[in-house]
Amino acid sequence: MFGARCIYVSLRRCSSAPCPRHAATAKLLRVQEALEVHNPTENDIKVQGWVRSVRSQKDILFLHVNDGSSLESLQVVADPGLEPRELTFGSSVEVQGKLTRSPHKRQNVELAAKSIRLVGSCDVLTFPLKYKTRHPLDYLRQFPHLRCRSNSLSALLRIRSEATAAIHSFFTDNGYLHVHTPIITSNDCEGAGEVFQLKRATEDGEPGENPHFFDVPAFLTVSGQLHLEVMTGAFTKAFTFGPTFRAENSQSRRHLAEFYMVEAELAFVDRLQEIMQVMEDLFKRATDAVLSRCPQDVGLFHQRVAPGQEGKLEQMLKNQFIIMSYTEAVEILKRSPHLFSYKPEWGLDLQREHEKYLVEHCGGIPVFVFNYPYDLKPFYMRDNEDGPHHTVSAVDLLVPGIGELCGGSLREDRLDLLLSRLQRMGQEDTYQWYLELRQFGSTPHGGFGMGFERYLQCILGVENIKDVVPFPRFPHSCVL
Ligand code: 4AD
Ligand code: MG
Repeated sequence: MFGARCIYVSLRRCSSAPCPRHAATAKLLRVQEALEVHNPTENDIKVQGWVRSVRSQKDILFLHVNDGSSLESLQVVADPGLEPRELTFGSSVEVQGKLTRSPHKRQNVELAAKSIRLVGSCDVLTFPLKYKTRHPLDYLRQFPHLRCRSNSLSALLRIRSEATAAIHSFFTDNGYLHVHTPIITSNDCEGAGEVFQLKRATEDGEPGENPHFFDVPAFLTVSGQLHLEVMTGAFTKAFTFGPTFRAENSQSRRHLAEFYMVEAELAFVDRLQEIMQVMEDLFKRATDAVLSRCPQDVGLFHQRVAPGQEGKLEQMLKNQFIIMSYTEAVEILKRSPHLFSYKPEWGLDLQREHEKYLVEHCGGIPVFVFNYPYDLKPFYMRDNEDGPHHTVSAVDLLVPGIGELCGGSLREDRLDLLLSRLQRMGQEDTYQWYLELRQFGSTPHGGFGMGFERYLQCILGVENIKDVVPFPRFPHSCVL
């Protein structure tokens, strides 16, 4: 909950007129106790925001003003003579007056205006957001420059901000070092060739000049993992949380070309279960924090966007996540009477329909699937040296409605095995530095990455990933 502490600060800031900064409406609305302590009715305050409704009666004007700090708007009560011309839904205003206790049950306080200044008018006829209308998310998606003014997108963006803070706190509270891994890199960590390559916008320079700005081909990062591995050579536990880019030609509801990934890496770890435990703790602790810090905003999604999601989330939070091997998962799929579009077979990747089935099979509880086929996974994963079904120590976390939320593994820390795998790929020169990490004070280690947008989809029940990111980037679309 927003505690009295932040309210106190905002009131204190606004204790003299004219106020140098605007007062957050949300905070003002929750100030019952602070009102009693500070008696702000003696001082003028100033509120800046956007008009959510205007109701002009014969001798009273009611306005609702929202400054983005909460779903709730501050009620402003004024003499109709103060109403500026062109004051409509959507316009921006600055209101000055006294904060008083409200006689209405729905709010603690209201603002008795002394002045109302229209800052920017709004043409309601052409404004895509309409008064008292609940716009569906796919309608709002057409207006990436305006949709943050709607209740659903503003709630989403507040949740996104709180979730970011909660994830950072989870890691720093648990002794992880936060590292800014580079966005421009010369490696393709996942080796899937789904990289965006960088090129100067200007001509390629003089003939004979190296065409590469960095002398080598450079890409937008697909993962900060390899750089985090460098850091766990000195810091034991490290994490990064930044933009990640994939040139996948997918229009699916779970893929973006630019998304945020939370990645953690731990040294002195030789059991996959330790990695799974961090994933589960991260999911549960971050979600608890989001639920307690923005219950109203989350409520909007659980009540209006995805009814039933609250119960599903509770199920995820109260149960211990399930663990099964890839081999068991394939057996479950093969035994199922369900007709899959892709026939499940050992050695083939799990498709979304398979992941969905497995989570349903587990009663809607998230499930870890571990030990995937060696041939399906990137070079850095630890070889289990088993057979005849050859696997690596990889783990994916599958969640209801989404499928894969996290992907992780133990890393190959044995120099000879890593070298021979890279030699077979013809990549031993490129990864010379990575091989050296195994020569100088190496440790068994591992980590994972969690897609931040998929995490938000999972807790809120949002179907399309494009609705949980401020400016979605996907094939054929880079608007703004
Ligand atoms: O499974 P991925 O590819 O794993 C890695 O990149 C590892 N190097 C991470 C690590 O071990 N440090 O990606 C991790 C997660 C996926 O499970 C998924 O949630 C998300 O990133 N993800 C995407 N999210 C949105 N759009 C895309 N195109 C995504 N690709 C992956
Ligand atoms: Mg993966």
